[in-house]
Amino acid sequence: MLKDNHNRPVNYLRLAVTDRCNLRCFYCMPEEGIEYMPKAELMSYEEMIRIVRVMVGLGISKLRITGGEPFIRRDMMDFLGEMSRLDGLHEINVTTNGVVTAPLVPALKKLGIRSVNLSLDTLDRKLFKEITRRDDFEKVMKTFEALLSHGISTKINTVMMEGKNDNDLLPLAMLTKDHPVGVRFIEEMPFNGGDAHYDQLWWSHRRILETLKNYFPDLEKIPDPPSSTSYNYKIPGHQGTVGIIAAYSRTFCGTCNRIRLTPQGLMKSCLYDDGVFNIKNLLRAGASDEQLAHSVLEALGNRAKDGFEAEARRRFGLPVSESMATIGG
Ligand code: 5AD
Ligand code: SF4
Repeated sequence: MLKDNHNRPVNYLRLAVTDRCNLRCFYCMPEEGIEYMPKAELMSYEEMIRIVRVMVGLGISKLRITGGEPFIRRDMMDFLGEMSRLDGLHEINVTTNGVVTAPLVPALKKLGIRSVNLSLDTLDRKLFKEITRRDDFEKVMKTFEALLSHGISTKINTVMMEGKNDNDLLPLAMLTKDHPVGVRFIEEMPFNGGDAHYDQLWWSHRRILETLKNYFPDLEKIPDPPSSTSYNYKIPGHQGTVGIIAAYSRTFCGTCNRIRLTPQGLMKSCLYDDGVFNIKNLLRAGASDEQLAHSVLEALGNRAKDGFEAEARRRFGLPVSESMATIGG
């Protein structure tokens, strides 16, 4: 089993396959003037396949494909096919904004994609357009329906934003009534490609919980899966569950089992670090699989104990400001 220097098992890789996105969520990207990475800097599919294979050899058994928006990268489904055939990978999940995903759902089901996280911050079409700067709400809902009708386990990720989707907490939580969906409310993080939006976080995990309890006084705590980043609850009588992710307060670092790869091959051992080494550059410089594996192990041997230490150790500057589109959440 792969372990870090704090004796935490590490079995989960989050792979951001592109930094490009077809939405412009204001908490993630500026509206204009986004500097995407030059294509040559992005890992090719061949490079990603080799790197994932090396990591699976070390003990990674669970993979999440994220972005940017994974499904706007060309031939993404072929890559997912390759991943689904990798021995030793027991679970593949995908995070998507759902804009172009609906027609792909049957193929995702066929590939055995275990679960899909859909980013959706509001059920109001006008507000959706305001938040994402694109008028694509209906397409996302089509994806939601397709996922449910194909029996793919579905989670909705909602970033809670003061003065924006405050009134969406209730309707989004109500989606759990008739649908077997996990709706997770996330604290907004400062990863937006610019300046922080707030001095103090209004929608803290505590406030989200209090508000849910106001709406649903019988809210029941349910057990959280191992290494889960969400605190999970059930509203009695509802099919689905609600969850809270303290992404800014970082209350879950003690059981963190994940590493990240950015689209340009930067390995991150924490969401809040600024990258520990670039594995694609090593590979392009001619490193063997053994050398790649060795570098991964070295990075895990020097992992920050939590997101606060990782943030403090950043070499390229504070505060954290890069876009989530290059990190993949
Ligand atoms: N704070 C919290 N979550 C964010 N995401 C993107 N940017 C932020 C942010 N600044 C979320 C997206 C998506 C996941 C990959 O990360 O909504 O669900
Ligand atoms: Fe795209 Fe997700 Fe960023 Fe929105 S949050 S702009 S959907 S990568």
